[in-house]
Amino acid sequence: MIETDINIKTKLPGFNNSIFAIMTQLANEYNALNLSQGFPDFNTSSPLIEKVQHYIEKGENQYAPMKGIYKLRQQINKKYDYLYSRKYDPEAEITITAGATQAIFSVITAFVAEDDEVIIIEPAFDTYAPSVLFNGGIVKFAQTEPPNFQIDWEKVQRMISARTKLIILNFPNNPTGRNIQGEDLNKLNNLIRNTDIIIMSDEVYEHILFDHYQHISLATHENLSKRSLIISSFGKSYTITGWKLGYCVGPEKLTKEFRKAHQNIVFAANRPMQLALADFMEEEDHDLGLQRFYQQKRDFFISAMEKSRFKIIPSQGTFYQLADFSKISDRSDYDFAIELTKTYKVASVPLSAFYNNKQDHKILRFCFAKSDETLKKATDILCSI
Ligand SMILES: Cc1ncc(COP(=O)(O)O)c(C=O)c1O
Repeated sequence: MIETDINIKTKLPGFNNSIFAIMTQLANEYNALNLSQGFPDFNTSSPLIEKVQHYIEKGENQYAPMKGIYKLRQQINKKYDYLYSRKYDPEAEITITAGATQAIFSVITAFVAEDDEVIIIEPAFDTYAPSVLFNGGIVKFAQTEPPNFQIDWEKVQRMISARTKLIILNFPNNPTGRNIQGEDLNKLNNLIRNTDIIIMSDEVYEHILFDHYQHISLATHENLSKRSLIISSFGKSYTITGWKLGYCVGPEKLTKEFRKAHQNIVFAANRPMQLALADFMEEEDHDLGLQRFYQQKRDFFISAMEKSRFKIIPSQGTFYQLADFSKISDRSDYDFAIELTKTYKVASVPLSAFYNNKQDHKILRFCFAKSDETLKKATDILCSI
């Protein structure tokens, strides 16, 4: 260890390791089933892996273009046209990024300056607020509450000021598993109609919805699509979270600014995997089959948990399931999640971690992107508590 006496003024006081890293480390330490962090414990398809191997061996190992491999951008254009009836120009409106996380940081860096305000709907994924703070911005949190996590648009309206630059949405939502309604988009549209507010819509779970729910992309909304930057992740859609590949689509004027940040943060995402994904997307249809695949896992989890003392708030999308444990313990959700990991060997994430004020609803988030065997073992344990 190197000792240093340099004085550092941290840009993020009060921020510690992410809850996902904490819970995963604890899961490893206590040999617990890890239903905390949002990654699948099964492999991606072998043709995709073979394609990556092919391109690496072929020597496609140097920088990709800053905007991303053109063929991959073309495939994204086709996908948006097919699924959401919106055409994004691959040259001017689509950028491949090093995961959704980098796209998120780049959008915020491109548009949020000192003292600009950003509205975040909570509970929320944990990188939004720190990215705003790094850029000197101010975050306003519009909390939603269980069990419905309905957005209170009047509350959002009261938060809007002349300094509001960005509103961040994430549907289907991590951690709640809630979907957004068409009516929500109309209300949002009314709120920001005569402003310069930009929407950053994190749609990384766009292919994972259950029952009758359909993904409502901001791309489908005539007016909102004109002021939205939409982010998605190949990691979630192709079971390759470790490859860190995502993208950002939006009108040329917004994309131009976005790319100024993207270019200086990462310049370009990795080349061989982009080439492989471009071929892969060309060959498959746009229904990735994720809906059926994860519906079966969600249904298994919910029906197995019927025998437990947890109260399930059925997920409408994503691969997360919330469970209320108030009939089991009156400990805080954080303490209960730790106890569950150490004593019962099942790791989860406390919902309070997704609220800035750490409000505690006695709810845990379980990730069910796990093998059937892991889910069976985990639900057996949870039912015994
Ligand atoms: C809502 C949300 N956005 C973004 C990400 C990050 O995606 P990526 O791994 O592509 O950076 C995650 C990952 O869990 C997420 O849940």
